[in-house]
Amino acid sequence: MMQEDLLTVAMPKGRIFDEAVDLLRKADYPIPPEFEDSRKLIIDVPEANLRFILAKPMDVPTYVEHGVADVGVAGKDVMIEEKRDIYEVLDLKISACYMAVAARKGYNKSHEVAPKIASKYPNLTSEYFRQKGEQVEIIKLNGSIELAPIVGLADRIVDIVSTGQTLKENGLVEIEEMIQITSRFIVNPVSYRTKAAMIDTMVDRLDEVINGKGREAE
Ligand code: PRP
Repeated sequence: MMQEDLLTVAMPKGRIFDEAVDLLRKADYPIPPEFEDSRKLIIDVPEANLRFILAKPMDVPTYVEHGVADVGVAGKDVMIEEKRDIYEVLDLKISACYMAVAARKGYNKSHEVAPKIASKYPNLTSEYFRQKGEQVEIIKLNGSIELAPIVGLADRIVDIVSTGQTLKENGLVEIEEMIQITSRFIVNPVSYRTKAAMIDTMVDRLDEVINGKGREAE
């Protein structure tokens, strides 16, 4: 198979993965049943001219920007944090959640001097507080962010809230809601020209599943 005939799709491992696979199946892409259970990092679906590469969510835009993946699925949170040279062409409307500032129950902001904010999103966090004119110290963590205020590593956190369960179970409360997040379909700018037909087809088919375009005409 010639490389030009193959579309490489970067998929985020973890939470978003199942919903993204479900969407592709609904868009009539023949994703094999064992896809979700495999530990493989590259999965070929030759009958659809597709190759999937499975990356950490935060790394998906990196693979797409460098062109080793033509397209990918990435959360809006990752897009804001990473600011890569890629096109965001479709809101997939999956994995909806929001970004929020949180702290321990009963915390008092006025007692804070140069507050420490823990987050997996240092760029987004620093930009947010810069715009508010608040001077903060950012502590970059890689996960389990809710632990930081409990053990005294940070005064507040910036993190994703989905059901709110993690905050609740750890005695934290939301202070400010920042931005709504959903997953996006992203495209490498060069691939968008060289593989326009394949990419347009995929975007159209996904768009139809998500937004039901053209259904009235049936
Ligand atoms: C995310 C996020 C919160 C949690 C929110 O973490 O960072 O911790 O989910 O979900 P909830 O509102 O439904 O409880 P994730 O499980 O992805 O792992 P992480 O701690 O490694 O970031």
